[in-house]
Amino acid sequence: MCGIVGYVGRKKASGVLIEGLKRLEYRGYDSSGICVQHGGSLVFRKRAGRISALEEALADAPEIAAGTFGIAHTRWATHGEPNEANAHPHFDDDGDIALVHNGIIENYATLKQFCLDKGHVFHSDTDTEVLAHLIGEFYHDGASSLEEAVQLALREVSGTYGIAVMCSGEPDKLVVARKGSPLIIGVGSDEYLVASDASAIIEHTVNVIYMNDNEMAVITPDSMRTVTIDNVPVTKEIQQIEWSLEQIAKGGFEHFMLKEIFEQPEVVRTSLGGRLDLRDMRVQLGGLGEIVRDLVKTHKIILTACGTAWHAGLVGEYLFEDLARIPTEVEYASEFRYRNPIVEEGTVVIALSQSGETADTLAALREAHDKGALTLGIVNVVGSTIARETDAGVYLHAGPEIGVASTKAFTCQLVVETLIALMLGRRRFMSQQSTERYLKALAEIPDKIERILAQADAIREMVADYVDHDNWLFLGRGYNYPIALEGALKLKEISYIHAEGLPAAEMKHGPIALISDGMPVVCIAPRNATYAKIVGNIEEVRARKGRIIAIATEGDEQIEKYADNVIYVPDCPVPLQPLLTVIPMQLIAYYAAVARGCNVDKPRNLAKSVTVE
Ligand code: M6R
Repeated sequence: MCGIVGYVGRKKASGVLIEGLKRLEYRGYDSSGICVQHGGSLVFRKRAGRISALEEALADAPEIAAGTFGIAHTRWATHGEPNEANAHPHFDDDGDIALVHNGIIENYATLKQFCLDKGHVFHSDTDTEVLAHLIGEFYHDGASSLEEAVQLALREVSGTYGIAVMCSGEPDKLVVARKGSPLIIGVGSDEYLVASDASAIIEHTVNVIYMNDNEMAVITPDSMRTVTIDNVPVTKEIQQIEWSLEQIAKGGFEHFMLKEIFEQPEVVRTSLGGRLDLRDMRVQLGGLGEIVRDLVKTHKIILTACGTAWHAGLVGEYLFEDLARIPTEVEYASEFRYRNPIVEEGTVVIALSQSGETADTLAALREAHDKGALTLGIVNVVGSTIARETDAGVYLHAGPEIGVASTKAFTCQLVVETLIALMLGRRRFMSQQSTERYLKALAEIPDKIERILAQADAIREMVADYVDHDNWLFLGRGYNYPIALEGALKLKEISYIHAEGLPAAEMKHGPIALISDGMPVVCIAPRNATYAKIVGNIEEVRARKGRIIAIATEGDEQIEKYADNVIYVPDCPVPLQPLLTVIPMQLIAYYAAVARGCNVDKPRNLAKSVTVE
């Protein structure tokens, strides 16, 4: 959840590090710090708050500006409040070892007691500082080098880490290691960069090495050596990052979230590209390879994920059962991993994740793997841990998603699930005629999303009328029930309005008690088999003076009799409706947050990638 950047080369390190931190700020942004080697000393600054505060602090630090070798960190607090003392880097007692860390040292209390018994003095409430002291302890007592001290320390650690460590006694060396927290090394000409996320280094190089769990790299300006924590040499392959710098910039939009909402027609086209074969009227998913045969035969699919990706999983349950007739369950990853689930032979477990690094999703996947399931990943970030640890998978190709609120990744998760469901359905029982109907309709989705986006200004004006209300309801049925949940989550996370999503029929079983004069109720009511039912639910809300924003199918004038406002979406087959109905949800949340003056791309208390439990 936090962000790490490191630099070893000939440029001024602080510029590279601060730029990298700014690109990582979406991962965590409550405090930050930087440490640079200068004249045999480690010079550092830390600040609570945004990266801009750290940047200001560098104005009076010419030694930091001069260094060509350093590490930096942006934090999202887990242990200890977000203040300067708890910001990284952390140091050992002598101040000659500096460390930045992502992840959680689970046994930090035991390790801290060990260090306290040895006379170490602590200055923060973090779990990370323990690791700095432990490395220092080994460095000064027994280890022959920084890397050996790091290895000895990491062998004592339970928990997760991505770390970068430097030492004034070995001034040209950076040691990095990973377990459960992403870390990549960028290989430039005459320079190496280290980052927890490709966006921090893409400006400098597209050539990267993805570190695996329990691996470590020892980097100097002229060399890099990779070994395991147990010091066994590892040969690593240099791979290319596919994203460009332009893709991770705002491109003229006020916020990344808005840019990403508007990118959806294009990314859906990309996600469908080469997979939706309209000439032979079939779906081709190269990432699934030979595994397709097992998938076709499976008697059960379990989809596991967190947050928005879990909502995509709920849509997947409808798709896999409806289109492929495969019994499907959806599990919160955080629950699945701890409830000793029954995973019968032949079960396929699919993990959905934008980042591919979400700690709970990864743990659920490992649990499923240990129980013998065939595992698949539906992931956006290429080379991410989930992508690498699954038996097979399909990438979203949504491009980098920077806004904390997930939008385009969600839509592409639905696209990929639809493609898999149609491919399986066709191989199991679906007629060629039905398959063709769905495939043609899927190909039209990007243009239809564009038609909804064209209403953005009207949606902005409409939302202005509702934003003073602190409680909203979102109702949907069938395929659109998960979209109601997603609409409520989007609104909560960026506008801090309390919102609840419900299957519309459930309202009568309790939540209807909440409806009061003027309460906004978003009803997702496109034409489908439950249309009349949801109109009934709308009437129930109106009778209690709730105000209705209806999402309806173009041409449905009848709904205007019941709703205060209507946002129209183009018609399409029912299983594809979520791909369209989610767009108004995103725009409503976005414009509500902007109207309330919220920081859309960096909502309070949230981080883009939740790599801790
Ligand atoms: O990277 P992932 O898709 O695994 O992330 C899962 C959730 O943390 C994420 O969807 C979260 O709910 C977003 N803030 C939603 O907008």
